[in-house]
Amino acid sequence: MLSRQVAEKLRAFETPFYLYDLDLLEQTLSSATSVAQRYGYVLHYAIKANSDPRLLEIIRSHGLGIDCASGNELRCALEAGFDPSMIVYAGVGKRDKEIRYAIAQGIFAINCESMEELEIVNAFAKEAGKVVTVALRINPDIDPKTNHCIDTGQADSKFGISWEEVLEKADFIKGLSNLRVKGMHLHIGSQIRELHVFEYLCHKVNAIVDNLSSLGFELDFVDVGGGLGINYDFPENEPVPNFASVFSIINSHLKVGGREVHFEFGRAIVAQCGELITSVLFNKTTATGRKLVIVDASMTELIRPALYGAYHSIENITSTSTKNERYTIVGTACESTDVFDESVGLPMTRRGDLITIKSAGAYGASMASRYNLHDLPPSVYSDQL
Ligand code: LLP
Repeated sequence: MLSRQVAEKLRAFETPFYLYDLDLLEQTLSSATSVAQRYGYVLHYAIKANSDPRLLEIIRSHGLGIDCASGNELRCALEAGFDPSMIVYAGVGKRDKEIRYAIAQGIFAINCESMEELEIVNAFAKEAGKVVTVALRINPDIDPKTNHCIDTGQADSKFGISWEEVLEKADFIKGLSNLRVKGMHLHIGSQIRELHVFEYLCHKVNAIVDNLSSLGFELDFVDVGGGLGINYDFPENEPVPNFASVFSIINSHLKVGGREVHFEFGRAIVAQCGELITSVLFNKTTATGRKLVIVDASMTELIRPALYGAYHSIENITSTSTKNERYTIVGTACESTDVFDESVGLPMTRRGDLITIKSAGAYGASMASRYNLHDLPPSVYSDQL
């Protein structure tokens, strides 16, 4: 909870904006890297979660690599000073120019998601006179027990190559002479809170890696993706996600056989350090009796509630009222789904009050749009207060 003193300082900045707690980011990274080091795990940050330059600078200073999902994300990572040898690139639909760019930069691995992609990467590698390291992104058909909008590892999903196809085309893949197939990759979904899912994932990976080895693939690394969830309901109870638990599960169940194990966390690194600060514009009551609070942010700054029905905890950080009301918090965009939450218990809320929408550091700013020609939200950092 922001202190009243800090809340009043926030009035110096035009709303809406993202506020980032850099100390919390440091703590989160220290926690993740100290446990990862114990097991020798390699951490990449999924830059799609948030590419704010100051956050990237801190993330880089803790020694993480990057997981990117487009040529522009790759460029952003390189411009932020990340070493190409610590960058992986996944994505179901990589454009020709993006593949050529990734090959030219000599990144750690291109994670390929279809047979056609493998063929094209091979052809472009040949054209560039290079042999390129790739990982096979396999669809393991696992239910990650999360919001179905953000699961990616089930058989019918667009992500990854089916195991059946890998088996069938193994010789063909091995014949692609400008590729070095050195890794196996998977990412089964995001906001995973039921950690036993990771145990199940390990059993699948063990079986897949064994099979790939018997097919003659010599793998150096296994990249198990990201997905570790955070506590959106009570962010204060869990400001730093439980990296120790997930690493310990992986360590107990994954048969690594001397291979490197890579992770690609996005949300778990940055979600809790960011919040969206917005001002109340108006109050009104619908004919049905719903009390609306209209704030100056909208789905153009934070689309998660409108897009996935995602929950973010909301607080009024400046009201001094002792009387509580139930409000529906809505944004300014011309869309009926532009609702941050229904029936939120807040102290009496008035025009000019500051509202915080918490746990918004991941997939908040990075998914902002210019719909209704809104400005993109600026960042304010804790060391500016
Ligand atoms: N690796 C790959 C290949 C991914 O596709 C993703 C996320 C990650 C790593 C990072 O996952 P994380 O650790 O953040 O769960 N916009 C949605 C989330 C989409 C995630 C897409 N891929 C949301 O706001 O919930």
